[in-house]
Amino acid sequence: MSYYLKNTWYVAAWSEEVGREPLRRKLLDHELVLYRKEDGQPVAIGNMCPHRFAPLSMGKLIGDCIECPYHGLRFDETGQCVANPHGNKAIPPKARVPSFCIEERNGLIWIWGGDRGAADLDAIPDLSYLEEPATRTVSGSLHVEANYQLYIDNLVDLSHAQFAHADQLGVENFGNAELEVTEADEKVCVVLAIPDSELPPAMRAMAEEPEARGSFILEANWQLPSIVTNHIQFLKDSDEPVFKSFGTHILTPETKHTAHYFYGLTRRHRLDDPSVDDAVRAWHLRGFSEQDKPIIEAAARMMGDETDPVGMSTAPLPTDGGNVRARRILKQRIAEEAG
Ligand code: FES
Ligand SMILES: [Fe+2]
Repeated sequence: MSYYLKNTWYVAAWSEEVGREPLRRKLLDHELVLYRKEDGQPVAIGNMCPHRFAPLSMGKLIGDCIECPYHGLRFDETGQCVANPHGNKAIPPKARVPSFCIEERNGLIWIWGGDRGAADLDAIPDLSYLEEPATRTVSGSLHVEANYQLYIDNLVDLSHAQFAHADQLGVENFGNAELEVTEADEKVCVVLAIPDSELPPAMRAMAEEPEARGSFILEANWQLPSIVTNHIQFLKDSDEPVFKSFGTHILTPETKHTAHYFYGLTRRHRLDDPSVDDAVRAWHLRGFSEQDKPIIEAAARMMGDETDPVGMSTAPLPTDGGNVRARRILKQRIAEEAG
């Protein structure tokens, strides 16, 4: 059985990552090259030249085609070889690379993981808040050496913040946190509420009222196949948010044991303040690159070829409730797809 759901949309890149310089990226076990045509439309085709297997991503764009860096065969956006500079210039009949169904929406380039004919544009997850006016999103991405679901486990499990990110998100009253896990329409929602709290350190630099006390509420929403949006709020007694942000976390499998992690933080306050952008970038660097990544990668190495901790763990915790449910839904969908 496949380790990922095929007939669904995954993120291939943030829009700004793809331009007129070919971008090599391995996604869903496929070696791809991504680029934009002259009219700006993004293209994703196989990266391995069928002649002597040079990566097309090392080549150059000629109009809407890409030219192999080794002997100059040219391929168009459908993956078809359209020019051969050698001999009688005849194009070998089987000279083509695969092409992939991609769509740009909400500042992301999405790729369909299954058969082209089954691609359904209406099924692209709605992340339109990323493009709403009066918001600002600071984004980034990481390559990670862990199965994509181990990353989803981490994002759905809000309790890790108090330990893995103690210096950033730790608060004194964590022991009184209340956890709620709900599931509906193949979506899982986890809410962790910490009453009578100070603002956690990472939020102070971004908030309007850094010294406020109130309820620190973290919410994670998982949806198929591997998208988590989280909502961090800090409410004063009056229920007026002192801090509110939306986090976007999307995992795309690269191989069974590696993945691409796309993240962003969207805010609705202090939009034009570059010091807030810097604080968000500092949080991403500290939280994601220096704290989550080494722990998740090390745990993945401990697990060897296994990628599902649920059956393996002898120490289940109540805080695993959300990720166990998300895994169950995804497993069921993969099994259905495999027939
Ligand atoms: S390897 Fe691409 S043209 Fe020879
Ligand atoms: Fe984390």
